[in-house]
Amino acid sequence: MPHSPAPRPVRIAPSLLAADFSRLGEEVRAVAAAGADWLHLDIMDGHFVPNISFGPVVLEKLRKHCPIPFDVHLMISPVDPFLESFAKAGADWISLHPEAGPHLHRSLQTIRALGKKAGVVLNPATPVSAVANVLDLTDLILVMSVNPGFGGQTFLDSQLTKIATLRRMISESGRDIALQVDGGVTVATAPRCIEAGADVLVAGTAVFGAADYGTAIAALRGQG
Ligand code: DX5
Ligand code: ZN
Repeated sequence: MPHSPAPRPVRIAPSLLAADFSRLGEEVRAVAAAGADWLHLDIMDGHFVPNISFGPVVLEKLRKHCPIPFDVHLMISPVDPFLESFAKAGADWISLHPEAGPHLHRSLQTIRALGKKAGVVLNPATPVSAVANVLDLTDLILVMSVNPGFGGQTFLDSQLTKIATLRRMISESGRDIALQVDGGVTVATAPRCIEAGADVLVAGTAVFGAADYGTAIAALRGQG
């Protein structure tokens, strides 16, 4: 019988963007208690993306309410001047878009020097080659399966091939790099992302829009 590798564990990172902002402390406690692996925090500046969300002060206040890692997705430009404040506010993972600053390699070095895990985010139109020469400084690659800026958008099937290509690139590199997908992840699209090779699923609406967060998280993981 052919040897099939052990299934990769799938981590679920609910996106706070879809939470009830009038009750953020309660929401992060609830989602952590419901089995979320990481909390995904979308930082938007109204310039790099056409929406504004929240900044480091909110992270700092939420940190004591949340026992799970903070996965910070920066959609801001310039990005370099803010890396330290997000690190100090409690980020564990900090991801940025190559288009958000002039020197991706330097930004990743800065995140690592701050003692945090560094991530590179690829927009739907951004090729995999954007990350190919910085794998040694990369702990996570995030594939956007929508254009960044808003929750509740429709999953772009075109990004599944990119996920599969990156899974091969990561395997061939022999490096420990997480492969995350973000945007339009639901019980319908999650299995296709996992099949293509993703091992961290970001989900806003599919978790915070559900009546029971625990059931929603288990379903996304494929345990529903
Ligand atoms: C979009 C954000 C996503 C968003 C996902 O710019 O990066 O994290 O919150 O929301 P859903 O899961 O509703 O598509
Ligand atoms: Zn995000």
